[in-house]
Amino acid sequence: MKVGFIGLGIMGAPMAANLVKAGFEVGVYNRTPDKCESLVAAGAQAFDSPRAAAVGRDAVFTIVSDTPDVEAVLFNNNGVAAGASAGTVVIDMSTISPTQTVAFAKRLAQQSIAMLDAPVSGGESGAREGRLSIMVGGERAAFDRCLPLFHAMGKTIIYTGKSGNGQRTKLVNQIVGSLNLLATVEGLRVASAAGLDLATTLDAIGGGAAGSWMWSNLGPKIAAGDDRPGFSIHLHAKDLRLASEFLDDLNLEAPGTRLTSSLFRQAEDTGLGALGNQGLARLWREQQV
Ligand SMILES: NC(=O)c1ccc[n+]([C@@H]2O[C@H](COP(=O)([O-])OP(=O)(O)OC[C@H]3O[C@@H](n4cnc5c(N)ncnc54)[C@H](OP(=O)(O)O)[C@@H]3O)[C@@H](O)[C@H]2O)c1
Repeated sequence: MKVGFIGLGIMGAPMAANLVKAGFEVGVYNRTPDKCESLVAAGAQAFDSPRAAAVGRDAVFTIVSDTPDVEAVLFNNNGVAAGASAGTVVIDMSTISPTQTVAFAKRLAQQSIAMLDAPVSGGESGAREGRLSIMVGGERAAFDRCLPLFHAMGKTIIYTGKSGNGQRTKLVNQIVGSLNLLATVEGLRVASAAGLDLATTLDAIGGGAAGSWMWSNLGPKIAAGDDRPGFSIHLHAKDLRLASEFLDDLNLEAPGTRLTSSLFRQAEDTGLGALGNQGLARLWREQQV
């Protein structure tokens, strides 16, 4: 299959590299062109617009930051919709608004282009190692056609139903993950205040019922003061904004999500947005200084 790939950020670059490695013919586009270089060295072809990267492709992936960014790369004059032909499948792997996803899918359907929403979980390491969880919404037939592509990037590939359901599932993922991260930050603060050895505490809890991906992967970074971004506070705050809108649509009380959402907003307001999401711990460290 010939595929286009738009967005070579922390996630997109290793995901596109895994498609190349699996033997697919991959055309890439990135707004900042330098980021195409390693992909070209690996065997991809670089294009100077999303439109050009979509011409003659069976599937076109997008993984950019937020809802307006997906809209821009799909529908601007030089966007994917201007280059793709009838029968192409557009697969958006960004985390964006479910409502807008459905609207984008309807716009593309007018050109007989199917759209799958296929957001991911598993972080930068999951992307590099081809071990992502991919939650896919949209037409079943398009999902079935694209399965070999998903298998090149992920290990847990789940069809979630109609258009938008991939994004809805991802927002549930973000609600659960954010609370696990807050629990990790808080647990390590308490351990530190109590004078416990953090490495020992991480080992003791990681194997038990309170263990989590956040505890095992971000706990050691928090303990080491390593704030380099795998997933930035900006993007995490964006996801919790989307989750809050989702809860409003459902008219649901969800105090945990409201709390994590306000803490991530506070972290952004404090100037921590470019740090990795484990940098949430700095909210309290900085208060202590
Ligand atoms: N990082 C994670 O652990 C993780 C995990 C799961 C899901 N996600 C989701 O995956 C998406 C990408 O995350 P990331 O961590 O890879 O972000 P990132 O490193 O910040 O990369 C963002 C990418 O989007 C491009 N982009 C942003 N706005 C654009 C626009 N208006 N037009 C064209 N290109 C645009 C950027 O281009 P430039 O290079 O020019 O800036 C870059 O390639 C986000 O929706 C995020 O929520 C991330």
